Amino acid sequence: MYLTNEEEAILAGSEGEAKAFAMKVLVNLGDLESSEGFYPIVSAHVSGVSYHTAGEALIRLLEELNRMGAKVTVPTSLNPAGMDLELWESIGYPPDFAKKQFMIIELYSKLGIDITCSCIPYETPQSVQSVRMGDHLAWSESNAVIYANSMVGARTNRESGVSALASAILGKTPVWGMHLDGPRMPSMEVTIDGSMKAHHFDLLGAYIGKHFNSIIPVYKGIKKDVSRGSLKHLGAAMAAKGGHAIFHILDMTPERDLVQKAYTDKHIVERITLTPEELDDLKDGLYPAPAKDIDIFVLGCPQFGISEFDRLSGALKGRKLKMGKRIIVYTNRSILGAMEEHERGVLIDAGIEIYNDTCMVVTPLRSIGIERVGTDSGKAAHYIPRMSGVETGLLPLEMIVELCVE
Ligand code: F3S
Repeated sequence: MYLTNEEEAILAGSEGEAKAFAMKVLVNLGDLESSEGFYPIVSAHVSGVSYHTAGEALIRLLEELNRMGAKVTVPTSLNPAGMDLELWESIGYPPDFAKKQFMIIELYSKLGIDITCSCIPYETPQSVQSVRMGDHLAWSESNAVIYANSMVGARTNRESGVSALASAILGKTPVWGMHLDGPRMPSMEVTIDGSMKAHHFDLLGAYIGKHFNSIIPVYKGIKKDVSRGSLKHLGAAMAAKGGHAIFHILDMTPERDLVQKAYTDKHIVERITLTPEELDDLKDGLYPAPAKDIDIFVLGCPQFGISEFDRLSGALKGRKLKMGKRIIVYTNRSILGAMEEHERGVLIDAGIEIYNDTCMVVTPLRSIGIERVGTDSGKAAHYIPRMSGVETGLLPLEMIVELCVE
């Protein structure tokens, strides 16, 4: 990897131990990926926040970085933590877990990182992030990465928590992969023949992720009025089941010139067509857990934005949850703060539990007494059994509501 004189000096320690450490992390990564040098970044987003998933090793790393005097040099946001930082006690998290989680948040905060604990920095109001087409980023949450690349036209690889943190400290990222035009070009056309409902986007993402792992698709036939929530779910499911960091939608996503070039240069070598009915038939192969006899439902993977709260309110139609049924929604404090107080009140009166700062995947579900769940999220249905050993059924949001209301 080519380094400027200044970068060589930083690697040798001219700007302190923390920047030398960060430079070492990124040079190792850059060498591995045959990067030729660095690009400056506009922002970073760091994952690896929950004590449930990251454990003691994360605390040791953050303590060490703080000891070195590390500070981020670009706006940097943080992924969800392992619990609601205000309601943790009433929800029933063990105090030992809470103590460790607060320690992690404080250590990140001392590095200068915004601690909103959101995995949707691309739509969180008051976020430190303001992402534009062509911006180079170092983000490490796969749903955020694929959304930023696909829907905004910004450029970021799927960073690890450590490489995103190193980039946040240096304000740079090695140039490879998604920072270049070639690897962003689609080579497969996926035509949707029919009218997709919201839950079809999870199934589509899971199918493409699983069977066309890193082949970049351009989707055709997705209606212009598709909701942001559906596109969040599409990307999240693709990235969870596969290694995707980008998709394109014909005449919708911003990199139209790149897509046009892919057609002109005959870069599109594979073509498939799927109908919504076929996607419904694929569900059991993609998510084998049965979706019945479930009392607790978890929504908000990716975390709920305003439009998903509106969709939930619309599905509830003023009804309340019946005794014994629970719907838990995960979001972040910035979204909650931007919600109409009236709408929030209606949801809470209906019996919806709204948790901030965390999500159903990175929280230790069993430690708060949850053994079996249903969700509307393809990504959550993929990860919950792996992360918490909790059986998880996948159902459309509207069906979840109908199962739960009086
Ligand atoms: Fe976000 Fe948690 Fe899903 S971090 S994308 S809600 S796994």
